[in-house]
Amino acid sequence: MFPDVVSPALPRSLLVVGSGGREHALVRALLASPAAPRVLCAPGNAGIALETPCVPVAADDVPGLVALAQREKIEFVVVGPEVPLSLGLADRLHEIGLPVYGPKADGARLEASKIFTKQLLLKHRIPTAPAAFFSEVAPALAYLRTRAIPIVIKADGLAAGKGVIVATSLAEAEAAVRDMLDGGKFGSAGRQLLVEDCLFGEETSILVVVSGRDYVILPTSQDHKRVGDGDTGPNTGGMGTYSPAEVVTPALLARIEDEIVRPSVHAIADEGIAFCGTLFIGIMLTPSGPSVIEYNTRFGDPETQVVLPRLATDLLALLWAAATGRLAAFGPLAVKPDYAVCVVIAARGYPDAYPKGDVITFPAPAALPPATTVYHAGTARNAADQIVTNGGRVLGVTALAPTLAAAAANAYAACAAIRCASKYFRRDIGARQLNRR
Ligand code: AMP
Ligand code: GLY
Repeated sequence: MFPDVVSPALPRSLLVVGSGGREHALVRALLASPAAPRVLCAPGNAGIALETPCVPVAADDVPGLVALAQREKIEFVVVGPEVPLSLGLADRLHEIGLPVYGPKADGARLEASKIFTKQLLLKHRIPTAPAAFFSEVAPALAYLRTRAIPIVIKADGLAAGKGVIVATSLAEAEAAVRDMLDGGKFGSAGRQLLVEDCLFGEETSILVVVSGRDYVILPTSQDHKRVGDGDTGPNTGGMGTYSPAEVVTPALLARIEDEIVRPSVHAIADEGIAFCGTLFIGIMLTPSGPSVIEYNTRFGDPETQVVLPRLATDLLALLWAAATGRLAAFGPLAVKPDYAVCVVIAARGYPDAYPKGDVITFPAPAALPPATTVYHAGTARNAADQIVTNGGRVLGVTALAPTLAAAAANAYAACAAIRCASKYFRRDIGARQLNRR
């Protein structure tokens, strides 16, 4: 065989949509492809722009993105965030015959409507917590009184990761119901809600590359959703990750594949959805077995920042196989034995109000620990051309090392060397897995 020969079929001109750390990791991995593609990013951020051209078209500007892809003779579009997918970006690209990695709006509904997903899970008997759906306050309050506390209240629609309240008292649960249904909290996303039984256990993120009924499971990871050390404080988009998640033993992963991954992929296909993209399955490892918390229809952020650096397989070849219906013939993934840790540097105050525009000072690349990468998320250039904070999650610092402890130590050494007035990060990323030993 000729493993170094690049398939002539691989696309040479790519567009990555999005502006977060996830997209920085996607751009990095795609640029590293042996096919040496040209990669554009829209809109990108200050860090992505150091590596590849960024075009100021917003991630939710569907007509603008389609026009950009046509103008730039793009051959393959990789979509990072959920919003353009739910707005039909993939549908529009399919209409003009442009291959895209990311589901059409019918598939994106698996993330954009928690009620739709819960109905699919229940119908196809995929393990998940019992739940009921409401658009009126009175029946929701009556149902609440029949359930155990804690209880989970979820806005049906997309709420930027904030639409889930794990209520630890009946009063808190009632307030959450009233806030959404009467108070207009989360706008139209909260006009309908789910009341869902609380699951207990550890969470894990299973990212699956899906193409119709074919799928490839990516390396396991665990996120740290709460803002504070020891999993305290409000939920965030994710404050740090590590991979692999050793709590998911090979035997447990086989069970997750049998009980959740394959049934999910088949259920989606059976519902008539031609899904191409990442199915990110949030799973609670409960004492009675793995249970689905949610689907996302995109790569995780910051899961991507630990999963992709561990892949030795060409990401472009993998995503292209999915988008062109050839995933079944794609061989097993090559995964590096190293551990990866990503520590998110946020702006102090996130996920509530936080400052923007603080200057960030980076150590010289040679001063970073080995195998350490600084992915940018909420960064921009100011008028003086300095890199400044421009979002809640600012950077993701990933280190790869032969042990989890070494990976964490290197990521934290890099975090210490990055200077920024509003810098905040959790000090315990990876600690749970380290302490389990
Ligand atoms: P989601 O937006 O669905 O990812 O939910 C955000 C977070 O809320 C999850 O990552 C869990 O930590 C938590 N959560 C959601 N549903 C449940 C549940 N049924 N039981 C316990 N925690 C939950
Ligand atoms: N890190 C969780 C998410 O991407 O939704």
